[in-house]
Formats: sequence, structure tokens, C-alpha cells
Amino acid sequence: MYSLLFRTVLRRIDPERAHHLAVGVIRAIAALRLTAVVRLATRPDRSLAVNTLGLHFESPFGMAAGFDKDARSIRGLWALGFGHVEIGTVTAIAQDGNPKPRLFRLVDDRAVINRMGFNNGGAAAAAVRVARERRRRHRPIVGANIGKSRVVSVDEAVDDYRLSARVLAPVADYVAVNVSSPNTPGLRGLQDEALLRPLLTAVLDEAGSTPVLVKIAPDLDDTAIDSVCALALELGLAGIIATNTTIGRDGLDTPPDVVDAAGVGGLSGAPLAERSLEVLRRVRSRVPAEFCVISVGGIETAADAQQRLDAGATLVQGYTAFLYRGPGWARQITRRLAGLRKETARA
Ligand code: FNR
Repeated sequence: MYSLLFRTVLRRIDPERAHHLAVGVIRAIAALRLTAVVRLATRPDRSLAVNTLGLHFESPFGMAAGFDKDARSIRGLWALGFGHVEIGTVTAIAQDGNPKPRLFRLVDDRAVINRMGFNNGGAAAAAVRVARERRRRHRPIVGANIGKSRVVSVDEAVDDYRLSARVLAPVADYVAVNVSSPNTPGLRGLQDEALLRPLLTAVLDEAGSTPVLVKIAPDLDDTAIDSVCALALELGLAGIIATNTTIGRDGLDTPPDVVDAAGVGGLSGAPLAERSLEVLRRVRSRVPAEFCVISVGGIETAADAQQRLDAGATLVQGYTAFLYRGPGWARQITRRLAGLRKETARA
């Protein structure tokens, strides 16, 4: 049904417009007080529950950062079956992001290229919404993904992240430090140990008892991945999220002129799967079993999700396949994951 709608209508609509349409529908579920009803059909099987970060996740599968930048769709996404929602990236200073167009579909690859540039209404406004969600008895786990405000120089990044952590850590279940989006100049340079150490130290200081994770790029080499892992363990971070989008364009089926026309930005979706899995394996080999590793990048099916869990992921997230698979996606994944578990238990 959704694939027919996608092939006939949605793929002809500008991707950012289609995103806003989807968000409208998701928010309507909550506004019309349909969450509980929809949730009856999407509730993950109890066998999928995961305890990590000192939190109880109803399922290992969550919505990755970037979909709900301003924390407006938490309830609707929960209704659709996501066990957690990572809101943001949120910056201390509200900003418009890059000029449009800035989101491009590569349909042949089930991928997208984006250079959104952290369009968001600022940390303080997001914190008010997250706090409201947190007061509810039935809700998903909510992570707050924070990044650098564009107008702030890399030299002043520590204080900028600190401000976001100060308002969001008290209301979020975890904080994710984003140093890996390719669309803010200088941001990915913050993955270098000399810059990352003071940055993470400051966020940890503000976060208090709220778990802090760092989100890394798939374009890091093994030495850089190892260095982030060592630093995360040394500083007492709660976990690593691997990975963000890639600046690479290898192995695409989409004609090169279409890819070139999209221009710069981060590539996500199916072509990212192999590298994301490799990075997960590298990270897992460098951290203890109880350390939380969230795998994200190219997950489209329950088999993909299970493969990441088998490779040592504590939790998994996805975003791009939601655009191609539609509102039933999280339910399909969690249903099938539960089915796979039962089959394995029987075997
Ligand atoms: C993203 N992603 C992202 N990540 C992040 O940490 N902060 C952000 O603001 C965004 N914004 C964003 C916008 C769009 C349009 C996309 C497609 C992606 C990256 C996302 O969270 C995820 O790491 C990658 O997209 C890889 O996962 P998928 O999409 O292949 O499942």
C-alpha cells in the first residue's frame, strides 16, 4: 500500500515537503488522541525489551536523530512502534539550516543525500517539549542529540555544547553528542582527541547522572575509531552511536549525473549499511560487552537489525528506510524481530 503511494505520488513530491507531510500525519495521531489506539497495533513484543544506560527500552529499535529535530513528533513516533526517539540535532542557538533544496532522494539506491545543516528552533524550546513528554506515564525513551551552532566558531564549541547540555540533560533520558554531521563546517574535526576531550568533559559535567553518548562518522579510519573508543571509556561515557551519514559516494546505482546534481551532503540509507556494520564491529571490539553501542546506518529490515544486534549492537536505529517503507516500518521490524527470536529459540 505505502510502496504504491510512494511510487505513484510521494516520489514526485519534493523530499522536504514530503517529510513535512509525514510529520503532519504523525503529529495528527497524537493531536487526535489516537496514540493509545494505534499503539495497540504496534506495541513491541515483550521479548524485545532491552535494559541499558540504566533505562528500560521497550524494543531495541529507535528513530535516529534528524527526523524529529524539534521534539514535536515524539508521541506519534512512539505510536508507530519506535522504542526510542533521538530528537535533534538541537543547537544552543536556533537556526534555519542551509538553503533549500537540501534533501535529495536516490531512489535506485534506497538512499538520500542531505545537507540540512541543523535547522532547529534551539535547545531551550526543544527542552520544554521534551519535559512535557517526560511527564507522561507511557512514553518512549527520549535521547537529545546536540550539535554546534553554526555561528559559533570551533574554538567556542565547548561552551556552545555545554549550553545545550545544560537545558536538555535534565529533561532527556540520554544525551548524544553529535560531532559527525558533515553539514556544519568544522564539526567533524571535533572528533579529533585534542578537541573531543574538553568537549565531552564539559558535556559530562553538565549532564550529571544523565547518560552521555557520542555519535561518530562512518568515514573515520580504524585508528580514529579506536581513539574515540579509548577516550569514551577513559572519560566514562555511557555509549557510542555508530554511524552518522557518509561523505562517500562509492558503489551507487543512481546515475552519476543525478548524484552530482544533489551536490555535497551526507549519504544515508542502504549504501551505508556495509560500512556502518564494519564500524560497529570495530567499536564493539574496543569496548566491554556492557558498554552501550547503538548501530545506525542502512538498516531497512528486521534481518538487518538482527545482524547488527548479533554483531554486538545494544540498540539499533534507522531513518532513511522510513522514507521508503512508510509508517508501518517500525511495526514490521519489531514484529519480525520477535518472530526471528521465537524461531531461534525453537531451533
Ligand atoms: C540525518 N542524520 C542526522 N544525524 C544527527 O546526528 N543529527 C541530525 O540532525 C541528522 N539529520 C539528518 C537528516 C536527514 C534528512 C537524514 C537522512 C539523516 C543521520 C541519521 O541520524 C543517521 O545517522 C543516518 O541517516 C544513517 O541512518 P539511516 O538513515 O541510513 O538509517
